[in-house]
Order: sequence, then structure tokens, then C-alpha cells
Amino acid sequence: MAEQPIRLLIVDDIQSTRDNLRKLLSFEEDIEVVGTAGDGKQGVEEAQRLHPDIVLTDVNMPVMDGIQLTEQLTQDLPASPVIIMSVQGERDYLRRAMQAGAREFLIKPFSHDELVAAIRRVYAMELKKGTFLTRTAEPPPLLTSGRSGPGEVFVVFSAKGGVGKSIIAANLAVALARETDAKVALVDLDLQFGDIGVMLNLNHSRSITDVVDAQDHLDAEVLDDILAVGPAGIRVLLAPVKPELADLVTPDHVRTVFAEVRKLCDFVVVDASSHLGESILQVMEMASKILVVTGLTIPSVKNARLTLGVLESLNIDPERVLLVVNRVDGYSDFNKEATEQYLRVPVTVQIPHDPKAVSDAWNQGKPFVETQPEAEISRAIRELVFRLVPQEQPALAGGDKKRRRGIFGR
Ligand SMILES: Nc1ncnc2c1ncn2[C@@H]1O[C@H](COP(=O)(O)OP(=O)(O)O)[C@@H](O)[C@H]1O
Ligand SMILES: [Mg+2]
Repeated sequence: MAEQPIRLLIVDDIQSTRDNLRKLLSFEEDIEVVGTAGDGKQGVEEAQRLHPDIVLTDVNMPVMDGIQLTEQLTQDLPASPVIIMSVQGERDYLRRAMQAGAREFLIKPFSHDELVAAIRRVYAMELKKGTFLTRTAEPPPLLTSGRSGPGEVFVVFSAKGGVGKSIIAANLAVALARETDAKVALVDLDLQFGDIGVMLNLNHSRSITDVVDAQDHLDAEVLDDILAVGPAGIRVLLAPVKPELADLVTPDHVRTVFAEVRKLCDFVVVDASSHLGESILQVMEMASKILVVTGLTIPSVKNARLTLGVLESLNIDPERVLLVVNRVDGYSDFNKEATEQYLRVPVTVQIPHDPKAVSDAWNQGKPFVETQPEAEISRAIRELVFRLVPQEQPALAGGDKKRRRGIFGR
């Protein structure tokens, strides 16, 4: 049996199948599901990012099917062998799957034991063949940041819930990582109702409450374990799993977290709650930019005005405050000009209202900058990256400028 668990990627277009397989395998100590994907194309992307030991894939899927996925992985990532799952009667698939390079073929419905045995068999076989030795070395885990000095902090805030802070913070962090060579962390400081874990489909049991437990011996290594690995290799500090645990996290803990995370990352994006408490205020003080998010509705703009007033009373340099208008469409109470006039602050970026891109991304558990890089909403996020890190010149017009492998992700 393997000392390290067998790292498995599951590819299936049906969410419930993915969930069931993940659940089924969660009882096996020697198997760890490191990722899931909803079609062959995503499967290839995830395999390239995660370098799993085994890819378990369905055959019939939209965009790219399991056979094409197998062909591509056999060619590009021979150290990630494929097991194909298909329903009985698809005999032709069996032949094609084997020709494509699949190592095993599971006929649905299969039992838990058959599944686990197939995974272990393929792994043992590949181990014998030395397949995994051909894998290029994994990038090192967290090291100190490439840039000098502590990482820059960008806080996403609004005094009103539901304006899009979490969506913007998550997409911004991923876009920063994709468009620059920087190490990026995303910290979910909505301690009671943090959404980042669900939004990015992060199956990770550790959160900021583990920082509380490790308070006295928190260092890079301990933190590396606590941080989840998100899209584009960003590292994510999740909010507590239950709202009642939020109170365990004191402003002192938050200060310790930021001191450590800033040593390790070039940029730290913070998703805040709508509450202006001591924790978030001290993070705002250390932030190089505070993104105040508002919708174009009357209550939202009113609250943005109150927020700007608080920041002013804290003597925060107005240069550090960026106004981001979200969900822009033709039906708003205000337009950009009226908002600027009322708030007496220029609008830095306008993010369009795009329910389709947003809900597709939610459903896939991925940020829209990855699922729909060409959409206007993704361009707006890249524009925000450019405002925050001007020298990086992200490709505003096109999709992805350069697709980096996770900088310090796996
Ligand atoms: N630009 C947008 N277009 C469409 N829907 C959006 C947009 N921004 C946010 N939403 C939706 O609005 C809801 C609230 O967003 P969220 O990021 O959770 O807000 P907050 O973190 O400020 O409470 C979510 O369901 C999100 O999907
Ligand atoms: Mg939120």
C-alpha cells in the first residue's frame, strides 16, 4: 500500500456522480481525491495543474469526451494514467478506450470494492513500471515570496452584503495569479458566512480556526498545511466551517495570520464581511488598496458613502481607496456619473451584471475568469488587476495572457 495516498482526479459531467465517487472514496485512507472536473477539457486542465496519480473518467461528456481525454493525457501526461468508467453495452468504447491508452475499464454500475481494487491495481502496476518517476518534480511548496518586503494586501469591502465582494475577491485573486508571476493568497475574512470554499469548490478541512490552534508555533510550514490550493495555484485561507466558530478568531489572530501570509505571498486578497470590526479595520490599515464595492442601487450607494466616510475618518489616504461598481446594467437607480458625483470619488472599474457567467461559474465551482475568460465580466476583473499592479499589463482584450502552472500549488 502506498505511503502517500494515491492522488485521484475524477472527471464526470454529472455533479452527483462526482460527489458520490468522492464520498465513496473518502473512506479509503490510501486514496485522496485531489480534484474533480466536469468535462474532458477541464479534466486535461486539472490534470496538468494537479499531476494526479490516476485520472478516473466517464466516457460520455460534453466539450471533450473521456476517450479524447485519455488520448491527450496518454500523450501529454503519461505519469497520470487513466481509468475509464462506462455503462454496459458500450463495447466499442472499451476497444477505443484501450487504444487511447486507458489502463482499466470499469463497467457501470460497479461496486465500491471493484472501484477501489481497480485504482490500487493501476497504481501498483504503474509504480512497478516506474511511471511516476518520469513526472517532473513538483514545484516546491510555499517559499518566501520572490518580491522584496511583505506582500501587498488588497481588501474587498462593502458595508452592504450581496453586492459581490466574494465573487470579486475570488476572481481577482485568480486573475492576479494568472496574469502575473506572483504568489497570491486569498483570505476569507467573512468569518461567519464565508463563501470562498463553496465558490471555488475547495474540499479542504482546514481553516482560519486552525491558525488559532497553532497560534504559538505558526510558521511557513504549518501555514502551508492550513492553506488550501485553489485555481491557478492560489493559496486560500478558508473561513471557519461553522458560524459559531467565528468568535474564536480574535483581532490578534488575524494580525498573526497576515504577518505570516504576507511573508509568503506577493499579493494577499481579502474577502471581507459587511461588518466594520476591529479585525478588518487593522487589515485595512495595512492594505495598499481598499476596494469599496457598490451596486448602483440607492441603498448600496448610500452604504458606500458611509464606508468612504469611515475610511476618511481613519485617515486612510484616498489614493488607497478604489471604488468598484458591480452589476452594471441598464436598469440601475444610478449611472456612473451620478455615482461619482454623489460619492465624490471616481469609479475605478465597472463590472457588468452577468448572471449567466456568474451562475455557470458557481455551478462548476470555478471562477468565471477561468470558465469564461473572454466575457466582459472577466475583462473587467483583469482591468482591476491592471489598476492594482500596473506594471503587469494584463491582456485586457484577450483571454489568458500566459497560463502559468501553479506557482506554489501542486
Ligand atoms: N456582476 C454580477 N453579475 C451577476 N451576479 C452577480 C454579480 N456579482 C455578484 N453576483 C451575485 O450576487 C450574489 C452576491 O454576491 P457575493 O459575492 O456573495 O456578495 P457579497 O460577498 O458582497 O455578499 C451572488 O449570488 C453572486 O453570484
Ligand atoms: Mg461574501
